Amino acid sequence: MKHLLCLSQWTSEEINETLKMAEKLKYENKNGIRHNHLLKGKSLGLIFSKSSTRTRVSFEVGMYQLGGYSMFLSSNDIQLGRGETVSDTAKTLSRYLDGIMIRTYKQSDVEELAACGSIPIINGLTDSQHPCQILADLQTVKEYKGKLKGLKLAYVGDGNNVANSLLIGCAKVGMNISVATPQGYECDKTSVILAKEAAADTGAVVVTSNDPHEAVNNADVIYTDTWVSMGMESEKEQRLSIFMPYQVNKQLMQRAKDDAIFMHCLPAYRGFEVTEDVIDGPQSVVFEEAENRLHAQKAVLVKLMG
Ligand code: CP
Ligand code: NVA
Repeated sequence: MKHLLCLSQWTSEEINETLKMAEKLKYENKNGIRHNHLLKGKSLGLIFSKSSTRTRVSFEVGMYQLGGYSMFLSSNDIQLGRGETVSDTAKTLSRYLDGIMIRTYKQSDVEELAACGSIPIINGLTDSQHPCQILADLQTVKEYKGKLKGLKLAYVGDGNNVANSLLIGCAKVGMNISVATPQGYECDKTSVILAKEAAADTGAVVVTSNDPHEAVNNADVIYTDTWVSMGMESEKEQRLSIFMPYQVNKQLMQRAKDDAIFMHCLPAYRGFEVTEDVIDGPQSVVFEEAENRLHAQKAVLVKLMG
C-alpha cells in the first residue's frame, strides 16, 4: 500500500507518472470528458487541524469528480481533538474509509496514522512538508515551460513546509533549486539532505543560502510563501521585520529571466512576502497553480485509491 507522506518516499518515476495523470485529468475536465468511474464507491476522510481553502475544496470536489465521496472531519469535532490517540483514530477510520487526507502540525502524527491504519494516507500539510502543493506546482511549471529538467526555481523567504517539499520535489524531477532564507529560518536539515540525495540521481543542483539576489539570478521560476505559517502567529511581529529584505518585488524579479514566472502556494499577504504589482502582474501564475491543486490531487487519489 502506498501513502503520500513526504515526496522523498516517491521515486522520480512515480512523481513524473502522477504529473502525466494530472495533465490527462485536467484535459478531460476541460473537455467535458467524465471520469467518475475512477473512484466510484470510494470514501475519503479529510482531517483538518488547521485552516484551509484550496486543500479542502480541491479534495472534496476532486473526490466528487472521480465518483467518490469525501467527508470533512475537523479535528475540533472528532475525538482526536479531545485526546483520542492517533493510533486508535487510524485503526477505527480504516474500518470505514478507503483513504485519509490529514492536515496537522507534526509530521510524526501523519506517519503514525499511516503506520497504524490500513488505508492510504495523504499529507495535506504539516509543519514540515506540503507534498500535494508541490505536485501541483510541478504540474504548473511543466505547463508554462514545457519541461522541468534543467530549469531553475528560486524560492525566497521562509524555510518552511512548502520550501522543504519544494527542495525535495524539484530535486526528484531534475529541476535546479536555489533557496534563500534569512539566517535562522533555513529549511530543515533533513529535507536538504533528502533533496541532495535525490539530486545526485537526477543531476539537479540544490543550493541553499541567505542571499535572495544570488538565488533569483537567471531563474525560470520565482516562488515565495507567507512569512508567518499557521501555528507561528506569536512570532509575527519579529518575523515581519527580519524578512523584509526577502520580499519578492519588481527589482528582485528583474534579476530572473525575462520570461520567468512567479508562483505562490497561497494564501498570500500583499506588501509582505510579495508586492501587489508582482502577484497581480503578468508574470504571476498563482491562480493556475491553485487550480492545479485539483488536478494533481485527483491524480494522487487515483494512484493511491484506484
Ligand atoms: N496552498 C494551500 O494549501 O492552501 P490552503 O491552506 O487554502 O489549503
Ligand atoms: N506555509 C504555509 C502554507 C499554507 C498553505 C503554512 O503552513 O501556513
